[in-house]
Amino acid sequence: MTSIWLHTFRPPVRPPLTPGHRYDVVVVGGGLTGLATALLLAEQGVEVAVLEARRLGAVTTGHTTGKVSLLQGTRASAIARRHGIAALRDYLAANRAGQQWLLRYCTEHDVPVQREAAVTYVQSVDDTELVRAELSATRKAGLPTYFVDDLGVPFPNHGAVRLDDQAQLDAVAVIDTLAADLDARGVPIFEGTRVHGARAGGDHVLHTDQGDVAAHTVVLATGTPILDRGGFFARLSAQRSYAAAFRVSEPLPRGMYLSADTPVRSLRYVPDERGDLLLVGGNGHEVGRTRSARAHAEELTSWTRTWFPTAEPLYRWSAQDYRPTAQLPYAGPIRPGGHRVLVATGYAKWGLANAVAAAHVLAGDIVGERPAWASAFATWNPRELAALPTLLRDNGAVGARLSTGWAGALAPRRTGSDPPPEGGGRIDRRGWSPTAVSTVDGHTRRISAVCPHLGGILTWNDAEHTWDCPLHGSRFAADGTVLEGPATRAAADADGD
Ligand SMILES: Cc1cc2nc3c(=O)[nH]c(=O)nc-3n(C[C@H](O)[C@H](O)[C@H](O)COP(=O)(O)OP(=O)(O)OC[C@H]3O[C@@H](n4cnc5c(N)ncnc54)[C@H](O)[C@@H]3O)c2cc1C
Ligand code: FES
Repeated sequence: MTSIWLHTFRPPVRPPLTPGHRYDVVVVGGGLTGLATALLLAEQGVEVAVLEARRLGAVTTGHTTGKVSLLQGTRASAIARRHGIAALRDYLAANRAGQQWLLRYCTEHDVPVQREAAVTYVQSVDDTELVRAELSATRKAGLPTYFVDDLGVPFPNHGAVRLDDQAQLDAVAVIDTLAADLDARGVPIFEGTRVHGARAGGDHVLHTDQGDVAAHTVVLATGTPILDRGGFFARLSAQRSYAAAFRVSEPLPRGMYLSADTPVRSLRYVPDERGDLLLVGGNGHEVGRTRSARAHAEELTSWTRTWFPTAEPLYRWSAQDYRPTAQLPYAGPIRPGGHRVLVATGYAKWGLANAVAAAHVLAGDIVGERPAWASAFATWNPRELAALPTLLRDNGAVGARLSTGWAGALAPRRTGSDPPPEGGGRIDRRGWSPTAVSTVDGHTRRISAVCPHLGGILTWNDAEHTWDCPLHGSRFAADGTVLEGPATRAAADADGD
């Protein structure tokens, strides 16, 4: 399942790390956060290098829906409820700065952008209060939002809040442009280089699957932080959702739509030389906590066909992002008081403006010029205390998942000797070792079902044919290779031990 954006031309793969070098700053992660941070640092004359485990943009940035908006579903009312209007103003100031920088960068580098209104709407008349609350929070924080009764679109709507002159784009085009910009400035970018550990010292030494590299400062722009020192995985919930791009004959609504109520529906159009396509997203859930990912993907298509009867899916994909329990995103030191390992995460599926804002906070931390609104991204402050009840609830759910996962994996049952059918996966038990068995493209593989991050029991994703961890969102290919999430090592080969 590859996104519409990753189907288009990509530049050649960059080589992996040549070990043994030292840089002032090493940025780990080649998504929007990492590349924007590297560029801001390079502009300030900082010696910086980028390490990317897979390919640039291969993970969340390459699978986004590409809306760059200050109206973000119901984020404003959620932040205002938790932290008050002053904090919301800082958050919006950060996002405005990120949005303006990104759109200016696109204009200067000929990356196409469509200026469109953003709309948060409700599908049920019973949920109108959700958009009223969003309207109230955004207006109190100074956004010129307004209420719309009827959107004049084919799908159900019962009231909406709208913000004009927002934007949509292809985030992979931004990634490719940033990378070319970094190349031109002589910034080394290494693809196919996964960091799996670090040693602190005069310089930090990063251990990668290609060898070691040293850096005075390390930026972890890895979606969710890969080093567990700050316990960020416990402050985030990994949320996966589904998307598809359709060719349709019906007229396409202009504008960018996101429902405030569930099941979530996100819509926009995508320019295409054969006529604009319709992009529809939604049906999110916590990673690894669903019975059938394929059912979510199929339901999205059938919903689209209900309201756009000619819709033919051309591309389908799914992706995940990290929702902060405390509602506000994070950019800053991984540990209180330290400034030599920095992280950025928790954009709650609004990472385009947020990633660029976070990049300004991180680069500002390193060169000593933090933006005025940087407090909206604080990694350590009293808002963590405000989030404690939700944190305990979320981690209670994680703890419950851990024990039910293990109880299920170790429950007495007959271990199947037949391979799972094509595209299928199941957990078998070998003594005390739960084993994840799957058949993909005719190959039956057995890997350990125990997540190498912190011991969750993996679950089969029947849409992506991957093993997903319900605890903190790590995902693995059928052969155990890490795809994303906080894990840095492959799930063990069950036949190899
Ligand atoms: C379905 C969906 C739709 C979305 N739609 C929107 C939208 O419309 N508008 C919006 O603003 N936001 C949206 N988002 C969110 C946005 O896309 C993300 O927040 C943003 O792209 C995150 O960028 P990033 O650079 O932090 O992470 P990523 O793009 O995930 O980049 C992190 C990189 O780090 C690399 N990495 C990880 N671990 C290691 C390691 N150990 N060593 C080396 N490299 C490593 C990964 O391979 C990856 O390339 C959406 C998210 C989802 C899931
Ligand atoms: S992702 Fe943390 S235990 Fe699997």
